[in-house]
Amino acid sequence: MSRLGVFVGSSPLETTDLHPCADRQTPWGDASAAPVRQQLGEHELIYLRRHGDHHEFAPHQINYRANVWLMHSLGIDALVGTYTVGGIDPALGVGQLVVPDQLIDYTWGRDSTFDDKVRHAEFAQPYDQNLIERLTSVDSEVVRGGVYAATQGPRLESAAEVRRLAQAGCTVVGMTGMPEPALARELDLPFAGLCLVVNPASGVSEQEITLEAIVAASRSGAKTMLTLLHKVLAASV
Ligand code: HPA
Repeated sequence: MSRLGVFVGSSPLETTDLHPCADRQTPWGDASAAPVRQQLGEHELIYLRRHGDHHEFAPHQINYRANVWLMHSLGIDALVGTYTVGGIDPALGVGQLVVPDQLIDYTWGRDSTFDDKVRHAEFAQPYDQNLIERLTSVDSEVVRGGVYAATQGPRLESAAEVRRLAQAGCTVVGMTGMPEPALARELDLPFAGLCLVVNPASGVSEQEITLEAIVAASRSGAKTMLTLLHKVLAASV
């Protein structure tokens, strides 16, 4: 039996048979939302909406520590952060799924450790290789590898910022991709990111980035992400 945790981002969670499985309280304050459970045969998915049930928390306002702690306390064997992202690599079109293998953290001021003692968590490989394999082996269209640039938001980037990110080797950009992996690593919880490209990053295409286009791409891509996660569980032993 596999019990997979999933952080749901800006893409809506349109699925049925969800059952509340815990409240929001943690020693680190309230999580963004109460997690909900979905039974899939012998396997379970546990979802938590990181922006809250009514999308009330902007990326810099999310209590990442409470969210990761709560999911870990539910006995999940691995955690997937789903993210909507801008594509920096022009080869990544809208609707493309990407499972990055590296990240660069450009965020600041977020509570990004559970430790009150000095401890340096190993982070050369920020994502779990086995989970990357599970997410990419069930669908050949998913891009395996890439570098996630975690920006502070909530504004989008300037075109010059995106050029700099590209020079640094980043292939996708989003606002919530850190500190979830770092916190999960401190708890020895396998973590990977599943990114949905919802727009070309600023300056990558001539087109202006509109909220309407992002929402539309998030909505249709959310179904693809959910289907993939169901396949991953079905393939679990
Ligand atoms: N930049 C940062 N975060 C994002 C973007 C973007 O272009 N698209 C969706 N989330």
